[in-house]
Amino acid sequence: MKFFIDTANINQIKEAASMGLLDGVTTNPSLVAKEGKNFYDLLNEIVQIVDGPISAEVVSTDYNGILKEAEELSKIHKNIVIKVPLIKEGIKAVKTLSSKGIKTNVTLCFSPTQALLAAKAGASYISPFVGRLDDISTNGMELIKQIVTIYKNYNFKTEVLVASIRHPLHVVEAALIGADVCTMPFDVIEKLFNHPLTQKGLENFLNDWKKLNQ
Ligand code: E4P
Repeated sequence: MKFFIDTANINQIKEAASMGLLDGVTTNPSLVAKEGKNFYDLLNEIVQIVDGPISAEVVSTDYNGILKEAEELSKIHKNIVIKVPLIKEGIKAVKTLSSKGIKTNVTLCFSPTQALLAAKAGASYISPFVGRLDDISTNGMELIKQIVTIYKNYNFKTEVLVASIRHPLHVVEAALIGADVCTMPFDVIEKLFNHPLTQKGLENFLNDWKKLNQ
């Protein structure tokens, strides 16, 4: 499974990248707005830190506007993936972009039919939002199961990028289902390391070692 970080914060991206396990980055307009920096400057910084897919989201909602933004964003670096919302105009744009060999990440996916449309349009990634579904008492992981099954049935190449992850259990469940990628906030990546027995066991080993006086 690939690990992406879901943030536009440069310090968090640097720290996650230093662990050596980071495969890519996803951003969205809300995450970028939190940083208060120019979007293009930010992306130029990110591509220097992580050598992997970097999702940059368009804010146009019409076909021509999306294509124009995609063209500008693609010029930044070969690793930029154009993130497009799952709307009719977006899917039309994804079809055009994929025919030109431009990678896309279709975002704001909340149903299997939407995921099917994105795959048929040739999206590189589909981003189903599990946390936001859980928030409205709908099991987000059921959607991941459905999409993974549908994509396997038809041998779609679109990668399932589990998004809106809130805790490590989402990561475990996504891995058990066989999703391709998890994009996680920094705090979730950190939590993946933690286990109280590891901490306790290490303390005991180090204390016992001290008793040897070596
Ligand atoms: C996905 O690419 C989005 O950036 C993100 O995962 C949304 O997460 P949220 O529901 O926590 O805002």
